[in-house]
Amino acid sequence: MEGAGAYNRRSGVQAASLRVPLSMLEHAAATVPLPGQPAPVVIADYGASSGHNSLAPMKAAVSSLRQRCGADRAISVVHTDLPGNDFAVLFQTLADDPESYMKGDEAVFASAVGRSFYGQILPSCSVTLGWSSWAVQWLSHAPAQIPDHVQVAYSNDPAARAAFARLAKEDWHAFLLSRGKELCPGGRLVIVTMACSDDGDFGHRGVLEAMQSGLRQLTSEGLLRPAEVRQMAIPTFGRTQREFVEPFTAQERFGGLSLERIEMFEGDDRIWSQFERDGDASLFGASWAAFSRASVFPTLALGLADGRNDPRAPVFMDRLEAVMAAQLARKPGPTFIPLAGLVLVKA
Ligand SMILES: C[S@@+](CC[C@H](N)C(=O)[O-])C[C@H]1O[C@@H](n2cnc3c(N)ncnc32)[C@H](O)[C@@H]1O
Repeated sequence: MEGAGAYNRRSGVQAASLRVPLSMLEHAAATVPLPGQPAPVVIADYGASSGHNSLAPMKAAVSSLRQRCGADRAISVVHTDLPGNDFAVLFQTLADDPESYMKGDEAVFASAVGRSFYGQILPSCSVTLGWSSWAVQWLSHAPAQIPDHVQVAYSNDPAARAAFARLAKEDWHAFLLSRGKELCPGGRLVIVTMACSDDGDFGHRGVLEAMQSGLRQLTSEGLLRPAEVRQMAIPTFGRTQREFVEPFTAQERFGGLSLERIEMFEGDDRIWSQFERDGDASLFGASWAAFSRASVFPTLALGLADGRNDPRAPVFMDRLEAVMAAQLARKPGPTFIPLAGLVLVKA
């Protein structure tokens, strides 16, 4: 994700899609067994980025727990992300944002862990409630080059597609096994993540086409080399319902977890709704380009000869954003945003 608060400012698409999973989280917070006194109630937020989109879910969870355990019970909220995440902005957001769940609550304690969630990162049996939003579609790494696209869902290369599908399965297993260790008995984990429809549609088609043709344009302008574009791969994977459920098909439990609920749903396309209200094509293009920049341009920049430290990285991000914005503004249309919401329970 882009740091320095950029993701916080440009992640409204993600925030707009939380209605279904928020209701799952509120229900989980209202029913999950609580640890005995005086142990704190621990909430883990897996893949928090710089925190803005965690505020509403953490506020909902904390206020639901407060109704059950009173104002004085210690609640510990642990935000986790990769070591390179902008944790400074995360803590600033928790301190300053008027919507912070910490405002007016003296017994809520925030902390952070900078380690990959594909391993165990919190003590065994310590987490009462887990939350992960728009994060587990990120694989642990890109398992192969994608010769013809930045997103494997739109690639026609069978080897790349197979390698990504294989790793998506392994990573999903690793994520579940790790959370299975961390959750307390009876603990709940609510996940919302990018997904794929049963007929294999990953969505986001127009935005990804604009990204791909933007990369071609920057190559023809001489800013990028063809070999650099071939290195660019977004290691995200939209799983189908069958792929989410797969670990729970042979046996009811996987890593001590059972799948209580899964709902495949479509995210709200707030950028298209805005366009329908104001007819502003430039704003439409700029909004999707800004979303793309904050979410994936830093990953694309890794394909530059010197990675993110390449002197062309800032101009690459600015140019790609401008080119995408112009292209998307020429033909505004709705975007299909397939998502999955899941509730897992530790036996
Ligand atoms: C799209 S952001 C989502 C942020 C926020 N939860 C939201 O709903 O907007 C995805 C976050 O997941 C994090 N992430 C990706 N892979 C991860 C991993 N293996 N371990 C921990 N965090 C990871 C990224 O660094 C990024 O901050």
